[in-house]
Amino acid sequence: MNLRVVEKEDLIQNAELVNNPGYFGEYNPLVQISKADLEKQHEKLGPEEKRFLIEKKDGNRIGGITHFPAGENLEIGYVLNPSERGKGYGTEAVKIMTDYLFLSKDIVRVQAHADVRNVASQKVLEKAGFRKEGIIRKFKFIRGNRETCFSTAFLGKNGKNQKY
Ligand SMILES: CC(C)(COP(=O)(O)OP(=O)(O)OC[C@H]1O[C@@H](n2cnc3c(N)ncnc32)[C@H](O)[C@@H]1OP(=O)(O)O)[C@@H](O)C(=O)NCCC(=O)NCCS
Repeated sequence: MNLRVVEKEDLIQNAELVNNPGYFGEYNPLVQISKADLEKQHEKLGPEEKRFLIEKKDGNRIGGITHFPAGENLEIGYVLNPSERGKGYGTEAVKIMTDYLFLSKDIVRVQAHADVRNVASQKVLEKAGFRKEGIIRKFKFIRGNRETCFSTAFLGKNGKNQKY
């Protein structure tokens, strides 16, 4: 697979996808956003926030993955098209993204949050080398309730000799 930076021309298709209630799955907030607002968001992305399309080698788009600042650190979020889930692509995309971030930036950790009910996301993170660091209670408003998430991080080679 390839990760390709989202360009302005991709936003029409993005708007169709993200407004589809099934796209982000049951453990994320529902999104309703116009193409115009997506364009505004796209123009305002800071230097540490980048959105990528996940594409198969033949160019078929199968999902998206993003990194963004979280305090002094970077965090990632990811989603596969519903028809492409459960085929290993999520794990592969997270591995590629973390490799890219550690190779291209002066960082010591990459963070991710996974809803405690979202077993697929927790497994993806675990398989990509992330470790659970704690539970954040009532972290996110999702479809009517404040939901609880695991906080996880990948430390790359920095994680080798860490006591904790
Ligand atoms: C979370 C998500 C990205 C996982 O990606 P994926 O490509 O489906 O996951 P993988 O195929 O790499 O599977 C990773 C592991 O999770 C398991 N898994 C996949 N779907 C699962 C499910 N619905 N329930 C339980 N386990 C599941 C797989 O069996 C695999 O484990 P294994 O290696 O022990 O067999 C994908 O399900 C998704 O897009 N969900 C909606 C958006 C979302 O929740 N994003 C994450 C939070 S921002």
